[in-house]
Amino acid sequence: MASNEVLLHVEHLSQHFGSLKAVNDVSFDVMKGEVFGLVGESGCGKTTTGRSIIKLYDITGGDIYYKGIRIGAGLLAYKQAIAQAKATYKAKVEELKAQNPVDQAALAACRREMQDTIAEQKAKIKAAKHDQECCDKEYSAKLIAQLKEKYQPLFESASEDELPALKRDYKNALRVAKKTKLVTQIQMIFQDPIASLDPRMTVREIIAEGLIIQGERDKEKINEKVYEVLEMVGLVREHASRYPHEFSGGQRQRIGVARAIIMKPELIIADEPVSALDVSIQAQVINLLNELRDQLGLTIIFIAHDLSVVKYFSDRIGVMYFGKMVELAPSDELFLNPLHPYTRSLLSAIPLPDPAYEKERKRIVYNPLVEHDYSTDQPTMREVKPGHFVYCNEAEYQRYLDVLK
Ligand SMILES: Nc1ncnc2c1ncn2[C@@H]1O[C@H](COP(=O)(O)OP(=O)(O)O)[C@@H](O)[C@H]1O
Ligand SMILES: [Mg+2]
Repeated sequence: MASNEVLLHVEHLSQHFGSLKAVNDVSFDVMKGEVFGLVGESGCGKTTTGRSIIKLYDITGGDIYYKGIRIGAGLLAYKQAIAQAKATYKAKVEELKAQNPVDQAALAACRREMQDTIAEQKAKIKAAKHDQECCDKEYSAKLIAQLKEKYQPLFESASEDELPALKRDYKNALRVAKKTKLVTQIQMIFQDPIASLDPRMTVREIIAEGLIIQGERDKEKINEKVYEVLEMVGLVREHASRYPHEFSGGQRQRIGVARAIIMKPELIIADEPVSALDVSIQAQVINLLNELRDQLGLTIIFIAHDLSVVKYFSDRIGVMYFGKMVELAPSDELFLNPLHPYTRSLLSAIPLPDPAYEKERKRIVYNPLVEHDYSTDQPTMREVKPGHFVYCNEAEYQRYLDVLK
């Protein structure tokens, strides 16, 4: 269950593709053991957020921390600070040079100030690049040190006969540790179970791929693990030698889940894992994820395009609109007190099995230009109630506080 320990900390995350700001300054935490729902219409940046977290991109801006270790760091803020320092300097120089006589001392001071800022930001850029590239190396160095500590006393106390097997185990474990990446602790399950499984590979090969990349070569061990995860996801070991096309959509998604959990992840990013499935199958896959969550102590980021899917499953929900997080709250609270007009519009789209309600239900259409006047006062993420955040400006904030009263 959810704890007070922050597992993933995403701060000011931006991912731009040219001029397209797919994710634009998004911040949130994911607590160990919780299911965090990430919701918003198609194209709002949910998948990009997930892919940024598992390091499929060098992010444009912001920081991503996993267990307190910075695994992703963008350079945007630093580059902007440098540009800002240069612009400030230029303006100051023009101002000073307009005076007669020119104050040379002030000019020199301005220049030093700019140079200091640039040096400071460049140091941050260097640190960001280092963290982005080296977090895996540092993590595997830690694992290797732990292995040495574990095996040293075993070697000392082992008999002549035991030694060769022990050495073999140690070498194997060492190889795996060398290749283990911090980010393998974060696994992603993809929306389309057909496109994400290679049709030429057997289920065994698909599921074992991550282990093999990680350096595991012990065939027996690999097989054992494949069988174990197949059973955990409700399939059987006989399925290992078959190909993806021999399975139904729901079963294919189970294969996708098996492929993720074989890596012993702590965090799973499930990217619309049931959107491509029949409604009757959706609940089964969600139940499976729920069971695995309890059994393995998983933390899950569950991405969906509509709120009905995440409602019962998520502890907290973040609502995204056009690259921004617009509302974030515990699940119950979000459904009880939806404040941002976009959240309200998403809620109005959920049908309920209640004829009277359905007769009255009106879809609210969200039109940002009508809803907000951000011409003078810009919006930021504000906490309207402990744990409940809304992207709003001061006037809206006051209004939301009134609504909550
Ligand atoms: N690799 C990419 N290159 C360029 N644009 C992209 C790329 N990936 C996503 N986008 C664009 O970024 C926006 C957000 O996409 P995405 O994160 O897939 O949204 P969602 O998962 O919420 O549907 C979309 O406009 C999409 O077209
Ligand atoms: Mg997507």
